[in-house]
Amino acid sequence: MIVAIDGPAGSGKSTTARGVARCLDYFLLHSGAFYRAVGLAFLRRGLRSTAENAAFVLGADTIVMECGRREARIYLNGEDVTGEVGLPEVAQMASEVATLAIVRKRMVAQQRELGKRHRYNPGLVVDGRDIGTKVFPDAELKIFLTAPAKVRARRRFAELDSSGRQASFAEVLREIEERDRRDRQRAISPLVQAADAIELDTAGKSIDEQVAFVVALARERGQLRIV
Ligand code: CDP
Repeated sequence: MIVAIDGPAGSGKSTTARGVARCLDYFLLHSGAFYRAVGLAFLRRGLRSTAENAAFVLGADTIVMECGRREARIYLNGEDVTGEVGLPEVAQMASEVATLAIVRKRMVAQQRELGKRHRYNPGLVVDGRDIGTKVFPDAELKIFLTAPAKVRARRRFAELDSSGRQASFAEVLREIEERDRRDRQRAISPLVQAADAIELDTAGKSIDEQVAFVVALARERGQLRIV
């Protein structure tokens, strides 16, 4: 089955997705890493986020994801850039290139291919913005994680702090709010909760609680499918 976990930046999607994949022994697909890798390709080439530049980048560079049981790794032209795409400057460029139709079309096609390979074999956890609405609208379980922007910014700030990177809280909050706005307002596949998604407010919840909530639902749905 496919477990789709959508939500805004810092809502805990990727950590929750990793925990759920581990518990269920499913494969993991971080759709955001695709857009981050495209963003990184733009940054390396010093290009602005236009559709014309995107056509060039998509023709010249290859982006491949390897779905694992514990983590998903992303490769740009054969180089493992899983660590580098996590940088805040890459996140900003990712959210710009993610507004481009040509980029989304290609990334969604690659994500669906991975879905075909791992859906029942044994299962796939996918996190992103448009997984339940666009990439896998027929996912067996859809979760939409939420939390106020300040709570999400606090988490991102703590993450940066613990990895020794300098940033002010105000800067991190502004970055989160700007990405939220761009993700929610874009014309194609905006960030929106699917009608059949289950909302989980993660403010005040631990990662373990979030993971347990999703795993319990996944087990329930999995059994319903067999019956
Ligand atoms: O973890 P975080 O939410 O900060 O970022 P991410 O999930 O890695 O996504 C990075 C950017 O890629 C987001 O700001 C979105 O603009 C874009 N994205 C998207 O458009 N669609 C997806 N399915 C996943 C990410």
